Formats: sequence, C-alpha cells, structure tokens
Amino acid sequence: MIPREIIEEIRNRSDIEQIIGSCVTLKRAGSNVKGLCPFHNEKTPSFTVYPGSQSFYCFGCGSGGDVITFVMKYNNLDYAGAVEYLAARAGIDIQKDNTRPERGVSRKRVLDMNLCAARYFREQLFSPQGAEALAYLTEKRRLSTAVIKRFGLGFAPNHTFAMLQYMRDHGFTDEELKAGYFESVGGKSGKPYSIFRNRIMFPIIDTTGAVVAFGGRVMDDSKPKYLNTNDTPAYKKGRNIFALNYAKDSGGETMILCEGYMDVIALHAAGFGNAVAGLGTALTADQARLLSRYTKKVILTYDSDEAGQRATERALQQLTDVGLETRVLVLSGAKDPDEYIKAYGATAFSRLLEESRTKFSYRAAGVLSKHNIQNSDEKIAAAAEICRIIAMSASSVERDICLDEAAQLLGIGKDILKQDVERLRRRNERSRLEQQSRDAYSSARGLGDKVNPDYVRNVGAAVAEETILGLLTAFPEHRDAVAKGDVRLTGDDFITAFGKRVFESVMELHADEAGFDMALLGERFSPDEMGRIHKMMRTRLDLTENGKAVLTTSVTTLKNEKALQNAKESGDRMTAIESRLEQLKRIKNKKDNT
Ligand code: UTP
Ligand code: MN
Repeated sequence: MIPREIIEEIRNRSDIEQIIGSCVTLKRAGSNVKGLCPFHNEKTPSFTVYPGSQSFYCFGCGSGGDVITFVMKYNNLDYAGAVEYLAARAGIDIQKDNTRPERGVSRKRVLDMNLCAARYFREQLFSPQGAEALAYLTEKRRLSTAVIKRFGLGFAPNHTFAMLQYMRDHGFTDEELKAGYFESVGGKSGKPYSIFRNRIMFPIIDTTGAVVAFGGRVMDDSKPKYLNTNDTPAYKKGRNIFALNYAKDSGGETMILCEGYMDVIALHAAGFGNAVAGLGTALTADQARLLSRYTKKVILTYDSDEAGQRATERALQQLTDVGLETRVLVLSGAKDPDEYIKAYGATAFSRLLEESRTKFSYRAAGVLSKHNIQNSDEKIAAAAEICRIIAMSASSVERDICLDEAAQLLGIGKDILKQDVERLRRRNERSRLEQQSRDAYSSARGLGDKVNPDYVRNVGAAVAEETILGLLTAFPEHRDAVAKGDVRLTGDDFITAFGKRVFESVMELHADEAGFDMALLGERFSPDEMGRIHKMMRTRLDLTENGKAVLTTSVTTLKNEKALQNAKESGDRMTAIESRLEQLKRIKNKKDNT
C-alpha cells in the first residue's frame, strides 16, 4: 500500500490536462478539453478530459479514470508503477515515506535489478568465461566490439548460481530475483538456479532507456533458440519494440521492422539505424500503437519463409489500423535481413528498401503468384481476389490508384474492375451495419461484458447496481446515508460479483478517517474496471435533485431481485411468488401515486 497522503500529493501536483496533453493533442470544448482517444482508433474526438474533476472519459471505448489510470493504461504500468512514474515526474520521493511492508516487488526495483544483471552479463562476455560467446559474436556473426557494446550484449555463464550470487551480493533477495525472472527453483531438488545459462544476452531497452527485459540465445542448435524474460512487474510481453530506443532518434520518418534481434543489430551495424524488431510474437496492437508514436511509415522486412509471410499480413493489418503507412520489402536469396546483408551488402539492401512495395502491390503479387492468368478461369479468380483486396481500403483515392495498378497487372479494363469493387463495398457496408446492430443489441444485454460478466444474467439488477454505485461514488451524502444505516444496503445485497467488490471498496474507504477518494480505487481495480466505475459515476452526476429517491428505488429493486434469485436458488417457489407479488404491488402503488 502506498500511503494515501502520497497519492494525494502526487495527484495535486500532476495536472491531468498537462499530462494527457503531452501525449494527446487536446482542444478546448467548453470547460473541458477533447482529443482523439489514444486507446482506440477514431476519427472524431470522443475522448474528454475534465480538468474540474481531474478525470477523463472516452465516449467511444469507455475508458476513463483519473491521472493515475491514464498513466497505467498509456504507459502499460501497474498501479504502483504509475504512481512511481508520476511521483518521479512531480519530484516527490515515495521511497522516503514508504513504510509499507514489502508487498510484491516494485517496477523500479526490477529495473534496478535488470541494470545490475546487464552489467554482470557484459562483464562475463568480456571475461575469460565468455571467450566462446565473444568469438561467436565477432567471428560467426561478424559483429564489431563497438556494436556489441552499443547494444549492451552480454553472456550468461553456464553455471547454476554464479549469477544469482552476484545479484545477492548486490543486495537483491531471492524473492526479488524470482519476481525479476532470473531465478527459479528446481521441482525435485527445491534448489534455486539461474534461468539464463550459457546464453548470449540481449537486453531489451524501452524508450526511456531502462532495461526492461532480456532475450538469451543459445550458441548452437539447441532449443529453445531464444529464452525471453517472462512477465515481471517491469515487463509485459508484446508491448515493447526492440531497439526503438535508438531508432526513435534516427532522424527519419520511416522505420524498418524486422523479426529478430540479430536482424536489427546487423542492420544498425550496416548503417540502418532505423531498424526495430517486434520480439518474436506476432505484432500486437500495443506495439503498433507504440510505433505510431515515433514514426509515420513502417517498412516490413520479415523472414521470407511462409511463417514470415503470415506474420507480414498480420503486421500490415495492425499497422494500418493505427494509421501508419506501410511498405513490404521482399527478400530473395536470403532468409532474413541479417543474412541478406552478409551475402549482398548494405548497398544492395538500400536498393531493396527503395523498391519496397506498397501493401497493395505486395498483396496483389501474392495473388498472382498463386494463379496462372493465361488461363481465363484462373484470371477470373485472381481478379475477384484482387477486387476484394481493393474493396477493403477506406480511401477512395487509394482505391483508384490500386485500380490502375490492378488493370495493368491483370490486363482488364479499370472501369470493369471498379464496378466489381463498388459492388463489394456496398455488400461489405451492409454486413457491417448488420454487425453493428448485432453488437449494439448484445452490448445492451451485457453479452461479452468482460468487466462485469454477471451483468447479462440479470440486467435489471445490474442496472440498479450501477445506479447505486454511481450515486455512491459521486455524492458523499449518499455514502453517509448507507454508512449510518439510513439506507440499508450491504455487499450481500449485490447480485454481480463486480458490483459487490466496488460497493465494499467504496464503503471501506468511506469508513476510513480520510474518506473516500476515487483515485484510491485504482489500486484495487484494473484500468478497464476503473473505466466502468467512472462511467457509472459520470452518468449520475446530474442526479443532484432527486438522488436520494433514485437511490432508495434502486436499492429496493436490487433487494427484490436478490430475494427472487435467492428463492430461485433454494428452490422455494412460494417465496419466489410472494416476492414477485410484493414487487408487483410496489410497482402498482408507485403508478397509483403518480
Ligand atoms: P529467428 O529464429 O528468425 O531468430 O527469430 P534471429 O533473430 O534471426 O536469430 P539468428 O539469426 O538465428 O541468430 C526471430 C525472433 O523471434 C524471437 C526472437 O525475438 C528472435 O529474434 N524468438 C525466436 C524467440 O523469442 N524464441 C525463439 O525460440 C525463437
Ligand atoms: Mn537470423
């Protein structure tokens, strides 16, 4: 637990408009400011920052919260990490006042550990123990010492605990080493051992220059080829881009995206300082968004094998979704950029960069390679496939350019192809609208609700819960009424597990001397959950006049639903019927009164 005074201090000194404004372009709209939501793709701004309540909410995707939630989501940090980040930014020393018992290992601590480990691995590489590894890098992979040092490469010796001992000597406990993914414990022996052994170590460095993780490569053909840091308090897979720390300052508006560590290093060594890699996994939306913050255009140079082609398709999709311009560089005569440069040199690679294809040319070439268009049946099939590709583009200018190219490639009149493309677009539009109405229907019923999966089981009760929780978070007087027992409500009255959790947290904080504060919920709820809680609150802020009446009605509804559910569960049909009658009577009375 971070003491609440510190959290309050941090929030007081972290202006939400300023902090969000440094990542999102914001325009004033009345007393609030608006911008394009950084958490989903949109063309018209529905992301609103409320300086008054120091909070934000996106009407498009439902993300919302305070400045801490924003930093968590935007920088992919956990609660403690976001607090540390903001504290550092505001010049507040959390460590000093930090009397909390060690509850887990902080991000900062893992980063310190990583730095210490990186030093150790590098020392090892340049020590007699690392001779074989160094020879592998310089001779087999032909890397200069300067490049090895620039990338901070190292070596994890083939020893079960030498590395752990070094880390312990530098003040890290075994608990911490486990949390940082350096230490594991043998199933049979129960003895601790180093996870990385006899591997060349590649530090993964984020854009702030922190070592967030490692990849370790064997020097022979054993498996796995690379062992990578698993999730730690400082690292989540699929969120970082290798070498972006260097590429972001390379000065151009283009980056070269490849698959492997070695490709990036070889490209940098050959003078292409804008090369980056996605680190093994298929490119994720988070990674694409990260890239879009630092570049306009991405040239994909994945491996030339089939897996590489599939990965290219997926990456094209992700990159296009975040608005990046894309090109595809197709390698021939080599498996990957590293091997290509070794075989043909940097100048040849530059030429390939020049010749890299647009997304459409790349896809069309793929279609044509599968069909022999001398044969008219195959030509029809190829044309249909190419029209489908063109129809996917949302830009009419782009479609027009692609149509020109397609007409050339296929030897078919542009107008004819255009008719087919337009027909496909009308059909896609129809099914999109149908899908949209299906989505609206299921979201109205709470289907597929990840934050509150119980929502759909009893929508009436869930709506009542949200009203109650919205009122309780927005107005202290309602919290008082519940705390004093004027309004009788306990956690057990709630039907959804999420509602119950929110209620109990709110009331627990309210009971605390210093009172309830939305920011403190961030420690107990995920950013998505925080978004929902903010939505509940925000949509009830105008219930200033008749809030009490709405609260009591909702509590009654919830209790009736709960009684009904309990009755159902115990199989006591009489009670269920009685309870239903009771409810009907109440509804009737209410109608008679109005
Ligand atoms: P590659 O097998 O293409 O490796 O995997 P590479 O980088 O070209 O390495 P060399 O040239 O054989 O030395 C591409 C990337 O996929 C991830 C790594 O990030 C690697 O750089 N990968 C691969 C893993 O994470 N684990 C593996 O076992 C293999
Ligand atoms: Mn390779």
